Amino acid sequence: LFAAQVEFVKGVVAMTGLPPADRLEVCFAGRSNVGKSSLINALTGRKNLARASNTPGRTQEINFFTTDGGPYLVDLPGYGFAEAPVAIVKKWQALLKSYLSGRATLRRAFVLIDARHGVKAVDEEILQLLDRSAVTFQAVLTKADKISKAELERVIEQVKGALSKHPAAYPEIVVTSSEKGDGIETLRAIIATLE
Ligand code: GTP
Ligand code: MG
Repeated sequence: LFAAQVEFVKGVVAMTGLPPADRLEVCFAGRSNVGKSSLINALTGRKNLARASNTPGRTQEINFFTTDGGPYLVDLPGYGFAEAPVAIVKKWQALLKSYLSGRATLRRAFVLIDARHGVKAVDEEILQLLDRSAVTFQAVLTKADKISKAELERVIEQVKGALSKHPAAYPEIVVTSSEKGDGIETLRAIIATLE
């Protein structure tokens, strides 16, 4: 599914630029720097397919990647980037909102949560947006390699508590490390079962 033929299709800054909705689609949402682009690289087994960076706000467009016979993988611009100018933030929010509620082929939104921080106020905003946009979403903890098992258990409980208020949330939380490869097979399997 994710092996040889993965390609960047295009970066989109407006709904009119979306590629044809001719296959299923999954997207990766989350705070700036949470590890969305790194996760797409890990899933596809390609080091630099999606541009990962230490600079928050690196991904400013909706980036579409094709997988061999599988769904589009969609890298969304990060939110909660403090230094971004207000006008830009407003534009991102509007685009995210229309994308999340207006894409018929979008089968699941993965909401990435930094395993060190759990669900924050900025994450709540996207969860509420997802509640209103008929898309099933699923929490993915990122950077699990950065914390201890005990801390991880505590954060998982916090995330479960936060998700319990969101009926469209898929109950299973996927714990990942793009660095170490944890959870990557699990996530691939989840994506492969979507129809
Ligand atoms: P924006 O595009 O700015 O929204 O960020 P992003 O969510 O795409 O994050 P990105 O993948 O660029 O990763 C941000 C930083 O976190 C990079 O320096 C990555 O190397 C690091 N990172 C991502 N995933 C992991 C992980 O699983 N473990 C560790 N230790 N670092 C990670
Ligand atoms: Mg990115």
